[in-house]
Amino acid sequence: MTIGILKENGDEQRVALLPETVKQLKGLQVAEILVEQGAGDAAFASDEDYRQAGATIAPASQIMQHADLLIRITPFTAAELPQINPKTVLLSVFQPLSNIEATNALCRQGFTTFSLDLMPRTTRAQSMDILSSMATVAGYKAVLMAAMYLPKFFPMFMTAAGTITPAKVLVLGAGVAGLQAISTARRLGAVVEAFDVRTAVKEEVQSLGAKFVEVKGAAEDAKAGGYAVEQTEEYKQRQQQLIQEHAIKSDVIIATAQIPGKRAPLLIAEETIAQMKPGSVIIDLAASTGGNCALTQNNQTIVCNGVTIIGQSNIPATVPADASKMFGKNVLNFLKLLIAKDGSLNLNFSDDIVQGSCLTHNGQVVNERVKQLPGITA
Ligand code: NAI
Repeated sequence: MTIGILKENGDEQRVALLPETVKQLKGLQVAEILVEQGAGDAAFASDEDYRQAGATIAPASQIMQHADLLIRITPFTAAELPQINPKTVLLSVFQPLSNIEATNALCRQGFTTFSLDLMPRTTRAQSMDILSSMATVAGYKAVLMAAMYLPKFFPMFMTAAGTITPAKVLVLGAGVAGLQAISTARRLGAVVEAFDVRTAVKEEVQSLGAKFVEVKGAAEDAKAGGYAVEQTEEYKQRQQQLIQEHAIKSDVIIATAQIPGKRAPLLIAEETIAQMKPGSVIIDLAASTGGNCALTQNNQTIVCNGVTIIGQSNIPATVPADASKMFGKNVLNFLKLLIAKDGSLNLNFSDDIVQGSCLTHNGQVVNERVKQLPGITA
């Protein structure tokens, strides 16, 4: 089998596989690994590093025609698809829950595709879970970004020039990113509070040294696979009220609350921002799905009433070396399910991970959740 790694699109800094992972793939008897020139540059992996790991540097057109399996973090564009051999299996982060037309295009052209963001959230799939890996990076870096923008210290200082009180950080959503944000903020010495609709996370939040802010009566669904579900209007109002009380006392808010396939819940109203302390900072990790803050603009930093609101969507790309390392390790673990002993491609759809992460096959949508989305035609 030949695996192809293409250069990322746009300003993406990560690369799907680093040279160290290429080496491990060679160990799995993969015959050939083609890498586009400069694919790893932004993640500090040179063409020479790839060559030494056993890859061949090749032009994109050759890779698109000859690879049996193409891997890239940014999805293949409508302009690129006709250039790719339709027998090629595509591996990417297609974000199919919000990109209906792109999924229809993949079906029309008959591609077999795996979307790594569809990976089942099961114990067995944990080592392949790019959402968790990238949320870890985002939660960590969000706190560092907030610390850079905040006109104050994070830790408490007792100096000859007086005592500096610690920063107050409010984390909204205590999933993977939120928990990482809590531990990073605590390591920097801040006083941290966190809020989530899933009461199951209360103990985790407390064990990281943060206070859990609770709004009683949240809707939870055991069938939602550990994810949050949409809340009632009455709950949302009580929640916004309580968040407002805590937000106006905070220096930093790290907002991470998401509901898969839906608009992110609106947790910080415009009137809350009007009452927040000037100089405070909101990092909205839910910006790409509408934002947790009413004023968030995707991929923009704005200042309103002295409050800096950062809506940068692709924070993992700002830590390209380690984010690529984690991404590549997740991909490698997944590829172990797709590669037979002799190094050939073997798609075993009786494996729940292979089946669950498969987006399209033979012109049909395979993933059950995506199949049911309005607008899916195949
Ligand atoms: P996510 O990115 O979908 O959401 C982030 C957080 O926002 C979640 O904790 C969610 O409960 C919270 N949230 C949603 N609506 C909210 C609202 N209105 N107010 C406040 N908070 C709200 O979730 P993520 O981080 O991807 O994972 C969530 C859960 O999925 C994990 O805690 C875990 O239970 C499960 N999981 C399981 C894995 C596995 O077993 N392999 C791996 C990763 C996650």
